[in-house]
Amino acid sequence: MYVVFVVALTCLGVWVDAVNNGLARTPPMGWMSWQRYRCITDCVQQPDNCISESLFKRMADRLVSDGYKDVGYEYINIDDCWPLKDRDAEGKIVPDPTRFPSGMADLAKYMHSKGLKLGIYGDFGTLTCGGYPGSKFYMDVDAQTFADWGIDSLKLDGCYTNPDDYATGYPLMEFFLNKTGRPILYSCSWPAYVKDPDYKTIADNCNIWRNYGDIQDSWDSVKSIIGFYGDDTDNFTKFAGPGNFNDPDMIILGNFGLSYDQQRVQMAMWAVMASPLLMSNNLDDIRPETKDLLLNKNLIAINQDPLGIQGTRKSQTGNIEIWSRPLSPVGKFAIAILNLGEAGCAAIVNTTLSYIGLTNQGGYKVTEGFTGAVVGTFSLSDHFVSNVNPSGIQLYVASPN
Ligand code: GAL
Repeated sequence: MYVVFVVALTCLGVWVDAVNNGLARTPPMGWMSWQRYRCITDCVQQPDNCISESLFKRMADRLVSDGYKDVGYEYINIDDCWPLKDRDAEGKIVPDPTRFPSGMADLAKYMHSKGLKLGIYGDFGTLTCGGYPGSKFYMDVDAQTFADWGIDSLKLDGCYTNPDDYATGYPLMEFFLNKTGRPILYSCSWPAYVKDPDYKTIADNCNIWRNYGDIQDSWDSVKSIIGFYGDDTDNFTKFAGPGNFNDPDMIILGNFGLSYDQQRVQMAMWAVMASPLLMSNNLDDIRPETKDLLLNKNLIAINQDPLGIQGTRKSQTGNIEIWSRPLSPVGKFAIAILNLGEAGCAAIVNTTLSYIGLTNQGGYKVTEGFTGAVVGTFSLSDHFVSNVNPSGIQLYVASPN
């Protein structure tokens, strides 16, 4: 049905095939419900954890009161399991009235009054992954409904559809989002569902895109994501830039699965990989050292670097990986030295800036990436020695002399 519609639009010459909303010039930052709160819909048994307007308002209040908004976290994103299972008589999707008694327009107003933005979740197929109404055959009406509510971001998942339809359907939703006239950040799960994704077309149509499996609350999960991004088999890294970012999934700091060093790894690597920083945790209950990492301005500055260039893995020797990310002004780099090993002692990594791929003949001034403390001045061939804890990371910023 929608294929016919695409052809009609193309013939009329009004087809808009580019994401032209001006959003996500740097990786979006905020909070999202899925990893921590999943599809909990029983607010009687779990009043504090169920997917409800009170959860999103509580997290929004925390973003503001605890300083997250001040450092850039601005989106509150609702994931799956928010609507009723049936559309209304006009075909519109309906937020569950017992869990969202004030309605979505009201919730969006609440976020906007605090200087925040509201994101919502849908699915390209007939049902969402959790079994709620999908947008297939309803894209126009859903895009308009979201815009009417004042929604600022849409994550469009890809369950319950035919794989051949992705290349048509995802751009079609972008068309309908553009047609509403409301800038809505568009997050596509498209590449995660297809073999050999056409990243050029994906980047032309989506602001951010998931390309790997769901993050779980574990070090193994974080490691496998970093491995996938390091391998970059489909060459997706090069499509990152202002307006377009690869999305390795949510930040899980503040939950149960990561040690302190592993939390440092996730934050530092998501900064080096120019990744969206969408926390999924309970902001009412975050340990001080974790909060410091989430609010760390040096990490966030790397993550939000205006060039938007995604870092890459420069070397992999046993358990040791070295990554770098070009920063602005041109010539500056973030360097991450990652120890994926689990032997009890720290690894002593002895390298040179030249080995890492830096080329300024005059050498570099190096600062520590988390604190900004001066490490020293290094020529390209000086020994650059780093002690890296097991399942840990050292991060640096190198500026040309
Ligand atoms: C998955 C998606 C998750 C979450 C979930 C909801 O496919 O990758 O991030 O959105 O569906 O059912």
